[in-house]
Amino acid sequence: MTYDTIKVERRGAVTLVTFDRPKALNALSSAVLADLTEAFAACDADDSQRCLVLTGSEKAFAAGADIKEMAPQSFGDMYGSNFFAGWEAVTRTRKPWIAAVAGYALGGGCEVAMMADILIAADTAVFGQPEIKLGVIPGMGGSQRLTHAIGKAKAMEMILTGRNMKAAEAEASGLVAKVVPADSLIDEAMKMAETIAAMPPLAAMAAKEAVNGTYEMTLAQGINFERRVFHGLFGTEDQKEGMAAFSEKRAGDFKGR
Ligand code: HXC
Repeated sequence: MTYDTIKVERRGAVTLVTFDRPKALNALSSAVLADLTEAFAACDADDSQRCLVLTGSEKAFAAGADIKEMAPQSFGDMYGSNFFAGWEAVTRTRKPWIAAVAGYALGGGCEVAMMADILIAADTAVFGQPEIKLGVIPGMGGSQRLTHAIGKAKAMEMILTGRNMKAAEAEASGLVAKVVPADSLIDEAMKMAETIAAMPPLAAMAAKEAVNGTYEMTLAQGINFERRVFHGLFGTEDQKEGMAAFSEKRAGDFKGR
């Protein structure tokens, strides 16, 4: 399958998706959203695929929602079309996915990166929510996810002043899992994705569901949910295989059943 605004490559059990609008610094137009949701859904539906990596170019992961597309819109246009609601489909991806960010991840670019299960940054990465300078606010979850990730103090400062955050500060603040040299970003992201892809896939999907539950549930609900999911995994063949492999001192061979 080929797309106009992204490149999609299957590398073993990992789907590598690369934003491909270099002239617009990968600005996230409606066409990008349509391509991305299709590629993510295809990965979710393909049993041979167990993890996904989303990346951009050296200069920009994505410099935001497409300002040129948004500029002429009225309130009625935005409200009527529920603009940006389509991005929720990306957050419903069931398989684990990693955002590998080099260069600018601004506005919607930062927000898409924060939708990922794991965020890895090149040392060149720059994160920011500069929407206020355009007379708007984050519209793809930034006010919520950035605050969850780095706390109110820094999130409020960034969103009100529009200042950017470089990779080292992003790592120190808990926004990213890891910072790596720019020239090894894809290798590092693929290595992590391959590690995840070798795990029992049902357990991997369940684990991300449980972690993401933190955002939606009280502590007691979350712990109960975790325990029920843990119990449920004893109904899988992969649990038998994983525990047998441990006893037999060999690597598990997981089938996703
Ligand atoms: C549309 C964009 C774009 C964007 C860059 N471009 N960002 N087009 N939407 N978000 C285009 C430029 O217009 C230009 O096209 C080309 O990409 C190269 O960009 P330059 O500005 O010439 O590059 P540079 O000088 O290196 O500056 C890079 C930059 C700057 C600092 C990242 O492009 C920038 O500030 N971009 C906007 C960042 C931003 O405000 N993002 C938030 C968007 S709002 P031409 O054709 O002129 O060569 C958002 C909304 C979320 O995400 C929800 C609220 C509604």
